[in-house]
Amino acid sequence: MVRAVPGARYSRVAIAFHWVIAFLVVVNLWIGLIGGSMGLHKSIGLTVLVLTIGRIGWRIANPPPPLPVSTSAWERAAAHLTHAIFYLFLIVLPMSGWAMASGTTRRPLEWFGLFAVPYLPISPAAAGAGHEVHEIVGITMAVLVALHVGAALRHHFVLRDAVLARMLPGVR
Ligand code: HEM
Ligand code: HEM
Repeated sequence: MVRAVPGARYSRVAIAFHWVIAFLVVVNLWIGLIGGSMGLHKSIGLTVLVLTIGRIGWRIANPPPPLPVSTSAWERAAAHLTHAIFYLFLIVLPMSGWAMASGTTRRPLEWFGLFAVPYLPISPAAAGAGHEVHEIVGITMAVLVALHVGAALRHHFVLRDAVLARMLPGVR
């Protein structure tokens, strides 16, 4: 059994960002694909946008721990590609949703009913493009999340390494 470099864990802050954002994204995929309050969906989505900007800043200052040495080249490539696409999508999804809402909605955009968020000053055509992007990226995101969760569970239960544990709070 090969383990990750001892002590090579994600920082507490990275772990907190990961799980808060993951929870919010799952809720938003659920509302988008299955149904629920669109006001809640928009507030959660804007929250994901702000948190993701903070998360990327944190990651630049605090690089993630290296993967276990046993990780093959294709596994490394798959992990890096998935993670890079996640960061891209975590920005593009809320932005395209915001763009879409800016073209169609008359009521003010609110953050959990606490304050108004301005609509983006864009043309109806750009808002329409945002709608297309939001739909395609949203569905692709759901597929990627499934692959990502599958990979995490494979590490834990099949490869039996510490890759899942190092992203869990409190596990050594
Ligand atoms: C993490 C962020 C987000 C995720 C994962 C997400 C995901 C989704 C998904 C999967 C759909 C269904 C797509 C379809 O089949 O039509 C959807 C629809 C929608 N989203 Fe988002 N979204 C996010 C952020 C936002 C934001 C920030 C806004 C607006 C401020 C927004 C506004 C909307 C609207 C208005 C719809 C309905 C589209 C329609 O009527 O076809 N979303 N979202
Ligand atoms: C649902 C939305 C989710 C998103 C958007 C997401 C996104 C990400 C991203 C971007 C990373 C890379 C972190 C970095 O190195 O900067 C990551 C790592 C990780 N995620 Fe998720 N994640 C989600 C859900 C989950 C779930 C449900 C699990 C567990 C079952 C999970 C397990 C992991 C693990 C174990 C890592 C560390 C991988 C490594 O050490 O290279 N994630 N996730």
